Amino acid sequence: MELEATFPKITTHVLQEMKLKQEKIAMLTAYDFSMARILDQAGIDIILVGDSASNVMSGHKTTLPITLNDMIYHASSVMRAVKRALVVVDLPFGTYQGDSKEALHSAIRIMKESGANAVKLEGGEEIHESVERILTAGIPVMGHLGLTPQSIHKFGTYVVRATEEDEARKLVHDAHILEEAGCFALILEKIPAKLAGEVTKKVKIPIIGIGAGNQVDGQVLVLHDMLGITQEFSPRFLRRYHNLSEEIKGSVKAYISDVKSVDFPNEREQY
Ligand code: KIV
Repeated sequence: MELEATFPKITTHVLQEMKLKQEKIAMLTAYDFSMARILDQAGIDIILVGDSASNVMSGHKTTLPITLNDMIYHASSVMRAVKRALVVVDLPFGTYQGDSKEALHSAIRIMKESGANAVKLEGGEEIHESVERILTAGIPVMGHLGLTPQSIHKFGTYVVRATEEDEARKLVHDAHILEEAGCFALILEKIPAKLAGEVTKKVKIPIIGIGAGNQVDGQVLVLHDMLGITQEFSPRFLRRYHNLSEEIKGSVKAYISDVKSVDFPNEREQY
């Protein structure tokens, strides 16, 4: 029996219940129909159409170049595949910072043109007006604190965030602001496990970690990293479940060899 027939559609309310029941939330990124269908059938709770598509799908060095139209394209492809998971889409850099009206407009475009279930924004107090305005349109918002890749030029490096007291205090403050603004969940990226655990206890909404230890309500990884499709990215927090780049290379080499030797196609593979 297909999973979606036995399990209900994941909503923001289901995630809240999972936090209350201390049931961990599993989240992965996806950017296309085929992968999203596999993740959904496997039972993933949340699919993030992350702006990491800028890196893993388009080959950019940062997440900054990806556009709203690109995100809508990826999100629409994912939505055609997903029956059960909650689908969250990143608002890309430059489509929400400093202008809550533009933030609302961007979020509405994502929801209307892709059919996604929620949007995600990076930042704390400085974006709370945008969060509140998006929520006025009934669009669920996920926050993202800690290492926020859209601010990489400000940070200058991808090292662990909030190790110093000032930054840790600001992060806790921002988590409260985002909860009060109405976010249904928060991502905490690359911060000390102890701090992530404290935030998880202090706020009522689910906290999903990436490089934030195991005292949070759930985990997220970039699909291409955990499958071993990306090759050069190997931070300490990343667990690789596969070495798919090597497996794909092996299959492609076998195919090339079969074509060159006219082993493919054989009698049964032709008309
Ligand atoms: O874009 C993305 O994939 C993300 C995750 C790293 C959380 O924001």
